Amino acid sequence: LKVAVLISGRGSNLQSLIDACATPDFPAEIVLVLSNKADAYGLTRAEQAGIPTRAISHKGFPDRDSFDSAVHDAIIAAGANFVCLAGFMRLLTPGFVGKWHDRMLNIHPSLLPAFKGLHSHERAIEAGCRFTGCTVHFVRAEMDDGPIVVQAAVPIHQDDTPDDLSARVLEAEHRCYPLALRLVAEGRVTIEGMRVLVDGIAS
Ligand code: GRF
Repeated sequence: LKVAVLISGRGSNLQSLIDACATPDFPAEIVLVLSNKADAYGLTRAEQAGIPTRAISHKGFPDRDSFDSAVHDAIIAAGANFVCLAGFMRLLTPGFVGKWHDRMLNIHPSLLPAFKGLHSHERAIEAGCRFTGCTVHFVRAEMDDGPIVVQAAVPIHQDDTPDDLSARVLEAEHRCYPLALRLVAEGRVTIEGMRVLVDGIAS
């Protein structure tokens, strides 16, 4: 796979994908890192890895459709055939999502379908959950929705702050995203409705 990674910030998940792609025989290559924020630290990570970057600010566009089509054009121009969202903080239009149907993954820091949206760690603590986690899923038009490829559960400790929990979940994210990308890139994943089969087996 030739992958475009879309980011908005720190890019620690991007780094986990960069590191995975640098290992021998990894079946995917990152051909573009695109950020909607020019000062995203993830762009520096990409430059350090010798990966082409683009910064396209959503603020320069009159509406979501025109921003999304500029993003789509940049992805195509880079030669990518697959998209990974990694902390990309813009909602994508149904038109864009449709163009990348079954060709776009996202990572979310909860055990979906619980705690979609922002502040998932704070809300999991508040709800008294003993476990939360992270999810890598194919992207559908609704936010944080779509067939799940990989999940990992992470315990919530009694005295956890949202930051403590975020750090623990992030470690799991950095394992799950490269694993999910590998499974998809190796052609081992089939999608049946909301279910993903790995090697023909429901995971
Ligand atoms: C991660 O927690 C990811 O799950 C969420 O946004 C955060 C991005 O962090 N979608 P980073 O930029 O990858 O460090």
